[in-house]
Amino acid sequence: MKENSVTIPRWFDRHLHIRDGEMMKTVLPSTLNQRATGAIIMPNLADPISTIEKAKAYRDRITALLDGSDFVPCMTLYLTDHIDPEEVVRGFEEGVWRAVKLYMANQKGHGGTTGSAHGVKNLLGRYPVFEAMEKHKIPLLGHFEAVEEDVDEFDREIVSVDRDLKPILKSFPGLPVVFEHLTDGRAADFVAEVDHDIHATVTAHHLMINRNAMFWGGMNPSNYCKPVPKRETHRAKVRQYVTSGNRRFGAGTDSAPHDESVKSRCYGCAAGIFTSPTAVELYTMTFDEDNALEHLGPFLSENFLALYGMEVSSETMMIERGTLVVPQKVGGVQVFKGGAEIPWKLVG
Ligand code: DOR
Ligand code: ZN
Repeated sequence: MKENSVTIPRWFDRHLHIRDGEMMKTVLPSTLNQRATGAIIMPNLADPISTIEKAKAYRDRITALLDGSDFVPCMTLYLTDHIDPEEVVRGFEEGVWRAVKLYMANQKGHGGTTGSAHGVKNLLGRYPVFEAMEKHKIPLLGHFEAVEEDVDEFDREIVSVDRDLKPILKSFPGLPVVFEHLTDGRAADFVAEVDHDIHATVTAHHLMINRNAMFWGGMNPSNYCKPVPKRETHRAKVRQYVTSGNRRFGAGTDSAPHDESVKSRCYGCAAGIFTSPTAVELYTMTFDEDNALEHLGPFLSENFLALYGMEVSSETMMIERGTLVVPQKVGGVQVFKGGAEIPWKLVG
């Protein structure tokens, strides 16, 4: 018999972009309405959150919009080639940030994704920072995609596993690592099997679409994000790890709002998919399709929360079978699967 409702602890978004200013005012309510206890806030603003002062000020701007909500904005540091290990540790010890986000850029200063141009160009040069992070157990949240121009777009993740991730794990066996928005089945095998304190976040959209979705019916920017969705075999492999209840995988939406004007331009379409308004329902639908609703709670609300200094919530939320029509837009931002019907509804 199929369940008609699922009750699980309130969840936590392990990877979220809420931007700043007017855009933040527009998109933050979507996550609050989804009953998240908090989120790992991505630091890739136009002026990246790369110092203690900037992180504190950004957290204050977020808090000012919370209006009594208990939502915990967990700040992250945008790692650059310049910050020294002492500031990284100090920001962590003072409770300003809970983790460090690694974006990489190539020698021309081109990053692989939105807001990554200020990212690390010299990974080896950051090893003293990783050493300090290992000592203080500061999690490294990695955007693992090779940024060299000659790497095939669809292989960027697995190439980065070999070039960047493996040497880091070997050099810092005690460094906690989160592999962000994992998309490649080979990377999933690696994360599942390697003997290391490593976990991975997985987005709702990468569980649902493969690369065809970017091209079906003409080029479709609403399904374009980084890492780009991969071929079907990879999507299926990643999804199998997730819905079979492997505890190394947890929900991180990577919900990444862009105004429609920058998503729909022909040249230089921005990467990012906005899923916040229905993230819980999208994940629920995915687990239900795989007859795996018993694993939904751990994935959304439990797995590796302690890594971020969060506890499993003692409050619950309920998702019921029923028809939810995904809104087309929130402000000027197109919503993933806008207009489609989802057979689940978060009701309280
Ligand atoms: O698609 C993406 N959009 N991937 C990222 O890594 C960044 C994000 C954004 O900030 O828009
Ligand atoms: Zn992201």
